[in-house]
Amino acid sequence: MATNGSAESSRSGSRTRNRGRTPRTSILPGALPRRVEWTERIAVGIPAIDEQHRELYRKLDAFLLALAEHRSPREVETLVAYLSDYVRDHFSSEEEMMVRTEFPGLTSHQEEHAAFRDECARAAERLRLSGADHGMGLDVAAFVTDWLERHIEVTDRAFGTYLSRYRSKRTFEPRFVEVKSVRVLRLDFSGLSPRELIEAFARAGRLIASQPEASLRILTIFDSVFDEAAAEALKPFVEGNRPFVAASAVVTTGFWRVVLTSVKLNRRRDLQLFADEAAALEWLVRS
Ligand SMILES: [Fe+2]
Repeated sequence: MATNGSAESSRSGSRTRNRGRTPRTSILPGALPRRVEWTERIAVGIPAIDEQHRELYRKLDAFLLALAEHRSPREVETLVAYLSDYVRDHFSSEEEMMVRTEFPGLTSHQEEHAAFRDECARAAERLRLSGADHGMGLDVAAFVTDWLERHIEVTDRAFGTYLSRYRSKRTFEPRFVEVKSVRVLRLDFSGLSPRELIEAFARAGRLIASQPEASLRILTIFDSVFDEAAAEALKPFVEGNRPFVAASAVVTTGFWRVVLTSVKLNRRRDLQLFADEAAALEWLVRS
């Protein structure tokens, strides 16, 4: 992000002092507002959202420039109103996209947006009552700039990562493969949304229950976004499969590994967890 040099030095000092605290709501007396510009460094990888962030920064920069040039209170208030209207529309657009794609982090993301909207509304009202006081304008600008930067880099980027996986995912297709003359049922649950994951458990469960008892060697791949409802559905799925399984190798990491470890603790010697597929297959064909 492009910044005003002298303002940046006061910002850095203030940022160091505020590390680990709630967002800064005041800045050093006499500090100049920095100028801001969207750059690829804060791209989240979703073209529609990146373009909205770019416009958000243009509007924020116009507000900062108006403060730097000591424009009239009316002009400053108008620019703040444009900015907050745009923020509201942009948040709605992001949240709609999250609902459509069943983003598991929707609720906490919405809460973050709502807290910022409330804080902005209070700040805009204080600014209006003060007649767009210059110091208060700097205060609002610093808060908005800091919040946006952090929100985009952490929270919006997490959605960007989810969305790219969601868009590139394959549909769930259980299939039997032959590995070193051993028949293996391959269940790849990668990249499924929570709802699709629960449906996939049901579908795989029906296929497994149609096989002879203790006959199956199963390779399961778990690389979906973690979700509590899907994790709850996983436990009966794994237990229900037990009579039909001779050996079950699961490739997984993160929270899914924690859930599966708790399932495995329930005397499941037929179930082994692996970090990579090659090791899992090696174990399966030897079992
Ligand atoms: Fe967001």
